[in-house]
Amino acid sequence: NKAKMIIDKAFRISEIDNRIYGSFIEHLGRAVYGGIYEPDHPAADGKGFREDVKDLIRALNVPIIRYPGGNFVSGYNWEDGVGPVKDRPRRLELAWRTTETNEVGLNEFAGWAKGAGAEVMMAVNLGTRGIEAARDLVEYSNHPGGSYWSDLRIKHGYSEPHRFKTWCLGNEMDGPWQIGHKTAEEYGRLALETAKAMRLVDPAIELVACGSSNSTMPTFPQWEATTLEHTYEAVDYISLHQYYGNRDQDTANYLALSLDMDHFIRTVASTCDYIQAKKRSKKRIHLSFDEWNVWFHSNEADRRIEPWTIAPPQLEDVYNFEDALLVGSMLISLLRHADRVKMACLAQLVNVIAPIMTENGGRSWKQTIYYPYLHASVYGRGVSLQPVVDSPKYDSKDFTDVPYLDSAVVYGEEAETLTIFAVNRHLSEALTLDCDVRSFEGYAVAEHLVLAHDDLKAVNTASEEQVKPHARGDASLDAGMLTARLPKASWNVIRLE
Ligand code: AHR
Repeated sequence: NKAKMIIDKAFRISEIDNRIYGSFIEHLGRAVYGGIYEPDHPAADGKGFREDVKDLIRALNVPIIRYPGGNFVSGYNWEDGVGPVKDRPRRLELAWRTTETNEVGLNEFAGWAKGAGAEVMMAVNLGTRGIEAARDLVEYSNHPGGSYWSDLRIKHGYSEPHRFKTWCLGNEMDGPWQIGHKTAEEYGRLALETAKAMRLVDPAIELVACGSSNSTMPTFPQWEATTLEHTYEAVDYISLHQYYGNRDQDTANYLALSLDMDHFIRTVASTCDYIQAKKRSKKRIHLSFDEWNVWFHSNEADRRIEPWTIAPPQLEDVYNFEDALLVGSMLISLLRHADRVKMACLAQLVNVIAPIMTENGGRSWKQTIYYPYLHASVYGRGVSLQPVVDSPKYDSKDFTDVPYLDSAVVYGEEAETLTIFAVNRHLSEALTLDCDVRSFEGYAVAEHLVLAHDDLKAVNTASEEQVKPHARGDASLDAGMLTARLPKASWNVIRLE
């Protein structure tokens, strides 16, 4: 089993926007309460946020974190989460049917995100609310002072504006499950008028319009076309969301799902360009893939959760080794589309379909999917290159011609580094990779990281990390030709310096 690649400095796809390594914290389950925030925990800082969790996040170098939802935002009154904590209301949270205490709100979150080294991607409620609440929220958050809402922020102890730059105009408004679900016409009009008012308060903000909740929605891609017909000149990005699962226990088909992600991205980009052409516009809309991950393990357990509890263990998927491989391939897909995808959020970050898990009052640990995310975020910065790939292929239930070798290549121009991310999708055989890197004269192999495991279903727990990378990959370089053995079912990071 052999695959060949040619990599050349000149084959540039695009500069990578670091924000493709973003993530997401929603007021959902134990993401906030018991996840990032737990004042009684021994590792809590002076504000009640867990330092052990923050350390795991800092290592990931997460550039941007979406907040506060998700479905949650469509029923949220942001005013409930500001001002003295003792005065904040307890609310029935309708999206996930829990009780929201509002102990954490936007000011606390902004301070926490700064400490974690991340920007905040804010979302406004276009479900139960609209222009007025969104306008007030921008004024409260971003205006320096001298107006009702900005002075209220100052009174709440935050003299400096947060200057949140990126804002989502609602969440999954195409989904019938969404509170305040809308037709594309209704949403397009509301998003446009909300965008106008928000930008009048702060012209420096960037706006993301809601695209489809996933590519199987019956309204996809007409939803994008109609939404953009209304909002094209008023927004900067359109969102994509997609979750996958190995429901049929068909791993060969499961690992091919990143081809579906590629197709989704291409279709949304084409829809944006179609509207651009119709409008004779010079402007290009970029893509914000602001929810993506594997999500299916917890579906059954979630049906048994008692309504109206505070921070119940919702959406606590325990990820296995094969999930890490698909997450690796999804990162590869984002990198290969770096010319259009400028932001993306692994959904989510802590406890809720997350790379990081915690015990209430106890330990925190890394799930299997932590590792591909870590490697891509740390080593995948620079220019995405288009490799020429010749790989053997297979057919699966839903896909034909699936290359066993899935790969993306990143050139760090300044630091003079070259990183190859590669998944071997073959479940029983290693793949020998021969790669022409002659345009990288003087480079040497610095490291070949491998994530592999004999058991595709192996998981990590608080007490045992079964799935973790090692640096004993055998990549070697001779006269501009790189050779590496990619073990069966493996994620590989080959770094040249
Ligand atoms: O990330 C979990 C949920 O998935 C989000 O709240 C929603 O936007 C999506 O359906």
